[in-house]
Amino acid sequence: MPKALITGITGQDGSYLTEFLLAKGYEVHGIVRRSSSIARERIDHVRVDEHHPSARLFLHYGDLADSSSLGNVLAEVQPDEVYNLAAQSHVRVSFDNPEYTADVTGLGALRVLEAVRRVVPKSRFYQASSSEMFGGVQNEAQSESTPFHPRSPYAVAKVYAYWQTVNYREAYGMHASNGILFNHESPRRGESFVTRKVTLAAARIKMGLQDTLFLGNLDSRRDWGFAGDYVEAMWMMLQQEKADDFVIATGETHSIRELLDVAFGRLDLDWKAYVKIDPRYFRPSEVDFLLGDPSKARKAFGWTPKVTFKQLIEMMTDADLKLAERELRAKSRA
Ligand code: NAP
Ligand code: GDD
Repeated sequence: MPKALITGITGQDGSYLTEFLLAKGYEVHGIVRRSSSIARERIDHVRVDEHHPSARLFLHYGDLADSSSLGNVLAEVQPDEVYNLAAQSHVRVSFDNPEYTADVTGLGALRVLEAVRRVVPKSRFYQASSSEMFGGVQNEAQSESTPFHPRSPYAVAKVYAYWQTVNYREAYGMHASNGILFNHESPRRGESFVTRKVTLAAARIKMGLQDTLFLGNLDSRRDWGFAGDYVEAMWMMLQQEKADDFVIATGETHSIRELLDVAFGRLDLDWKAYVKIDPRYFRPSEVDFLLGDPSKARKAFGWTPKVTFKQLIEMMTDADLKLAERELRAKSRA
């Protein structure tokens, strides 16, 4: 049975990748960090008693800031594939916590790479690289050959991790690949990213639980896909004979205004009556335009996205409406 180790298993992508790999017959191990309250909702539904003979999902304490924990877990698990998804992944927050972001998102990747090189050098490695690395103003589709121009501490850290991954491939012959993923979302998306913030607010407004939605820049454009489609691409990359770097995107770009149209429109609401601009949500430097060209991945291993932008936002809005209904029921019982 193949074994995979996932850092960031409790995050959006970690949870979809866990489901995907378990369905493929993998034994899945995840690194979780200690926190004062346990936040594992995204994987609770697939967790069974780790001591049960049929268990195939195991969690290990570790942290991307702690090399020794990474080496110990790798030595214990001996994985065939390592997916490095852990990060301080919020772009706006990275301006407030630049050093921490550099440590976890940048150096953290180096720590995992170095531990893999020392402990399980034959293991295949996936680095969660980001379209934020392209950053600067461009009005055409971004591909593997587009120069990087990072515009936040987060993006700078991701560029560092990207090049460390390339360097470990070239210097040590490791099977190390970068997936340069454009924004991908789902009902499990963190509530402070713009898609989820919008779909949750639209649902709560519909249920009378909220009356205003404060947002920042409505003019930026993103290439938004569905996280469930994107984790398949991560796995496909590691099945290639040769490691390489691939853009994963839909090839379509939409503005925040279009996102608002679809989410509020789904609930027969006009967003203009509820949205207010709050300067706190603007960034010191913004990435105005992201649009990916995924043709290299399509040619190399046949990956294409299945869920459209409209389907994605409607899926998220519907899921958040159920949550809001539950919240309202709980309130009226209290
Ligand atoms: P996410 O939901 O924010 O999940 C991040 C994960 O990293 C969580 O499991 C978190 O654990 C873990 N983590 C944070 N700091 C850690 C540390 N010091 N040590 C160990 N684990 C730590 O992110 P996501 O959307 O799933 O994204 C997955 C990866 O892809 C990230 O690296 C992100 O930067 C990158 N990426 C995401 C997108 C996107 O659109 N979603 C696009 C391109 C690249 P807790 O649960 O304990 O917080
Ligand atoms: N979060 C947030 N909150 N964003 C807002 C808001 C708001 O209230 N109002 C406007 N925006 C705009 C941001 O300025 C940005 O232009 C856009 O919405 C998307 O913001 P996020 O959803 O926070 O995502 P991101 O594009 O900055 O970063 C995400 O995608 C990257 C890939 O391109 C994250 O998942 C990163 O980890 C990932 O690498």
